[in-house]
Amino acid sequence: MSLAVPTSAEFPVLAREGLVYLDTAATSQTVRSSIEAMDRYYETYRATIHRSVYAIAAEATEAYETARDKVAAFAGAAPGETVFTRNATEAINLVAYAWGRANVGPDDLVVTTQMEHHSNIVPWQILGSKLAYIPVGDDGLLDLGALDELLERRPKLVCVGHVSNVLGTINPVEEIARRAHAAGALVLVDGAQAVPSLPVDFSALGADFYAWTGHKAYGPTGIGVLHGRRELLEEMPPFLGGGHMIARVGELESTWADPPAKFEAGTMPVAEAIGLGAAVDWLSGIGMDNVREHGRDVTSYALERLSEIDGLTIHGTHDMDRRGSLVSFVLEGVHPHDVAEIIGREGVCVRAGHHCAQPLMRRLGAPASTRASIAVHNTREDIDRLIDALGTVQEVFA
Ligand SMILES: Cc1ncc(COP(=O)(O)O)c(C=O)c1O
Repeated sequence: MSLAVPTSAEFPVLAREGLVYLDTAATSQTVRSSIEAMDRYYETYRATIHRSVYAIAAEATEAYETARDKVAAFAGAAPGETVFTRNATEAINLVAYAWGRANVGPDDLVVTTQMEHHSNIVPWQILGSKLAYIPVGDDGLLDLGALDELLERRPKLVCVGHVSNVLGTINPVEEIARRAHAAGALVLVDGAQAVPSLPVDFSALGADFYAWTGHKAYGPTGIGVLHGRRELLEEMPPFLGGGHMIARVGELESTWADPPAKFEAGTMPVAEAIGLGAAVDWLSGIGMDNVREHGRDVTSYALERLSEIDGLTIHGTHDMDRRGSLVSFVLEGVHPHDVAEIIGREGVCVRAGHHCAQPLMRRLGAPASTRASIAVHNTREDIDRLIDALGTVQEVFA
């Protein structure tokens, strides 16, 4: 394993005694360099961006736009294809409202998948078009045969998660984009779980829109990203109206700035964008291939150790070529919330619940599960602590 595992030197919160943080899929810890970059903004050049002409305002604008350049390069997109939002949810809603309302009517079809986070389901329900789901097989993989059948109905859009936040499945988004485009549909990818854990190249994937979020990528909360093909962003009407997104405002109508400004109305999360720029710098320094390799190593160890526990069912594939850095499981006879609470008392932080993926949980026949997710700072020893803590759960419920 080539990764020198970062510790409290890089993640201040890890200095807390006994903490084993296995909940990065919910939110990651923020890397020190990101916190410091935000502190520098607040302490030395705090000013608004894109408006004022004095020195610290120019510095702030420059830092914000440099952050955009870094974030774009990190995900294989051009800066003009990179819009800052508040989170992945807002990035998907931006597409649903701006592109969707202009291009999708009530009789049109949007295709999503049975393994999506609610963020990639509910905006399409609100849009009010027809909605169909690519089913998930017992192997935890999408049924691409069913996709082909749905494509015969000529959908306007196919929406798919790059990595499932429950099953861990890495979906073949490049292949899905190829098939969808051949049928005349656009493709939106929810990359919230992928960008922090795998090398992602927006232009190579061939998707039309790609959404992700800073707080799972070792950056701060309150910042998300939408990459969109330039010509689509140019054609799309705005999402929110207000300052900065305009070219000219008349009394009765207005014209719009070019993208990405067209989609960044009002004062943006400046510090958070700068913090995300620092976080992706840090990830690039490690190398996303190394991040993936590390996640693969610790996750396959977790699969191996969890499989040894009697009465424990793991959701999703065990094929690490198809699985990202998380494992959801159910322990027979114990509610996932009880599992999380008991192991939480031993300092092991995991998520329990429906993971904002209720259609998938119904498919799995389990209203809830416990999920351990693996970050750059986790080690095999953290998994040993998880397994020991699960031993305590079994003793309590014996
Ligand atoms: C797959 C997936 N998509 C979208 C989201 C939503 O991210 P955010 O809360 O940053 O909008 C999450 C977060 O849990 C997620 O796991």
